[in-house]
Amino acid sequence: MAAPTSETAPVAIVKTDKCFVRPYTLDDALPLATAANHQVITNYMRNSFPNPYTLQDSNFWINSCLTSNPMVNFCICAPDGTPAGGIGLTQGRDVEYRTWEVGYWVAQEHWGKGIATSALRAFSVWAIQQFPEILRLEAGVHSGNEGSLKVLERAGYTKEGVRRKAVCKGGEIRDMITFSLLREEVEGMI
Ligand SMILES: CC(C)(COP(=O)(O)OP(=O)(O)OC[C@H]1O[C@@H](n2cnc3c(N)ncnc32)[C@H](O)[C@@H]1OP(=O)(O)O)[C@@H](O)C(=O)NCCC(=O)NCCS
Repeated sequence: MAAPTSETAPVAIVKTDKCFVRPYTLDDALPLATAANHQVITNYMRNSFPNPYTLQDSNFWINSCLTSNPMVNFCICAPDGTPAGGIGLTQGRDVEYRTWEVGYWVAQEHWGKGIATSALRAFSVWAIQQFPEILRLEAGVHSGNEGSLKVLERAGYTKEGVRRKAVCKGGEIRDMITFSLLREEVEGMI
């Protein structure tokens, strides 16, 4: 099956008043590469998030998301349809297979509009409903990432603890702050 383009825009998995979340299309590659190719984005992401972030990286990422089964990584769009970032899940390994990590980013031009908070809240509900094996959603935030700390708190996640000096990003040592949201907490929100 051909990968989708904007001509065959895929159906959103979640929709809020601030954004919607849908599968990637190949047309997202350029705008998302342009948005992701900034220190303000890469600084708080894992090193597996490329820096610099090229068009080739973006195409590779989108193709891998579109062919993964189940699909767990998606494009965050502004209400007018502009691709504005990404959100996705990674299943835990071994005995942590019922813990899934959530990760997200939003293009700088869209910051402060409530997009990440709104996307995370709605996407967390979608994830719990979509994957019965999830008991716990988890997120790790580097110390200093004040925006993301706020996003997680406002999306209903609980701060659980601080893994001291767990992160070294670009030579800078940081703490990793762990947040979680349990299945029963999400079900209580619906
Ligand atoms: C973190 C991030 C996703 C937030 O996206 P966003 O769409 O701007 O988030 P929201 O608008 O929902 O909320 C962010 C809140 O944090 C605030 N904020 C942002 N940067 C801040 C800072 N440096 N200090 C204090 N507050 C900050 C915003 O003002 C906003 O609060 P407000 O609505 O009360 O004004 C975005 O900044 C980003 O992609 N950063 C780089 C990648 C990243 O950190 N990803 C998360 C990894 S855990």
